[in-house]
Amino acid sequence: MKDVKKDFPLLARHPGLAYLDSACTSLKPAKVIEAEASYYSELGACAGRSSHRLGREASSAVESARENVASFVGAGTEEIVWTRNATEALNIVAYGLDYSKRKKVVTSALEHHAVLLPFMDLRERGIIRLEIAGCDDRGHVSEETWAKAIDRDTALVVTNNGNNTSGVGQCTKNLARITHDSGALICIDGAQGVPHHRTGFRKDNFDFLCFSAHKMLGPTGIGALAMKKEQMARLQPLVRGGGTVKTVSLSRVEPVSDYTRFEAGVQHYSGMIGFAAACEYLKAYGMENVEAHEKALAAGMRKELEAAGAIIHGPIDAQRSALYSFNIKGAKPHDVALMLDREGIAVRSGFFCAQPAMEAMGAKDGAVRASAYIYNDLADIGRLGEAIVKIKGLYG
Ligand SMILES: Cc1ncc(COP(=O)(O)O)c(C=O)c1O
Repeated sequence: MKDVKKDFPLLARHPGLAYLDSACTSLKPAKVIEAEASYYSELGACAGRSSHRLGREASSAVESARENVASFVGAGTEEIVWTRNATEALNIVAYGLDYSKRKKVVTSALEHHAVLLPFMDLRERGIIRLEIAGCDDRGHVSEETWAKAIDRDTALVVTNNGNNTSGVGQCTKNLARITHDSGALICIDGAQGVPHHRTGFRKDNFDFLCFSAHKMLGPTGIGALAMKKEQMARLQPLVRGGGTVKTVSLSRVEPVSDYTRFEAGVQHYSGMIGFAAACEYLKAYGMENVEAHEKALAAGMRKELEAAGAIIHGPIDAQRSALYSFNIKGAKPHDVALMLDREGIAVRSGFFCAQPAMEAMGAKDGAVRASAYIYNDLADIGRLGEAIVKIKGLYG
């Protein structure tokens, strides 16, 4: 296991902290923090607008950041739209598509609220028919279930390539094939997949891929939507305004046809530069090393949780990122999280913005979630195990 703790200033400021809440948001290495700050100390100007030297330099920094983030997910530079986060990217797809010819959207019970809510809203307003593929009580949707739900009235299939309640991925490449065989489009919620394993936007033939920088060592407030060029021309933007048009008269607007159509208003330039630095950091670390590191942490976590007698939610044996949701019999999840906090262990408790998923997996009152990343080691996981044994002792 590579020791990268020293790269993360927050860990030096909080020695003894076992940060196990990376599925909520990850810590940032110094290189990302410096890159983000460099925009303010070195560039400072608007990108894509002003023709003075600083404006040109800001534009070139933003476009090189776009190239960097695109290549990280195997997309073309011209296929990346900046967004605030994965949530905004998902909303752009949901509200921008044309459902006049095909009315059905297929998703699953295991999605984050960022997926469910916009499509439930469209269903409420009679704009789409929503089919929600069910899962078994361990939180698995079979390929047959997906295939049965996707038909020739389906406009869009939307699902994750990494689940935030269990850390388990699914074969989105096969799902893309099944979707395209029916003439539908596929949108992948990559918020929890992109940070943890190599994602191939073009290779796996996705139409849309939504992800957030802050879950992959980057800044908050910046994310991306990768989208095929033909969709770029068809999708309606969610926000309109400055920077998205060729010409405007009071009777007519001529919009641009590329990604800038979706980037109205002055943007989060420092975030884009920080996002690119996070991709650089992960590339240098190696995504295969991220996977191997997390595999070892997940195995350790499972061992500790089982030995402590915790109730694990979600698939047990499936390949996953270093994430487990669990409960301690008789204890409220929030109480467990607060007791862990007293031991210097940061975890999340509740429904993790995926209440239907947690309920489907039998966690009717929510659960505790421990999620590790590259800056954690087996000592952090061992401390989690010891603390759980201690807490379990209090509940008999
Ligand atoms: C699976 C999944 N999708 C979408 C999101 C939304 O991400 P963001 O809050 O960065 O928009 C999250 C955040 O936790 C998530 O875990």
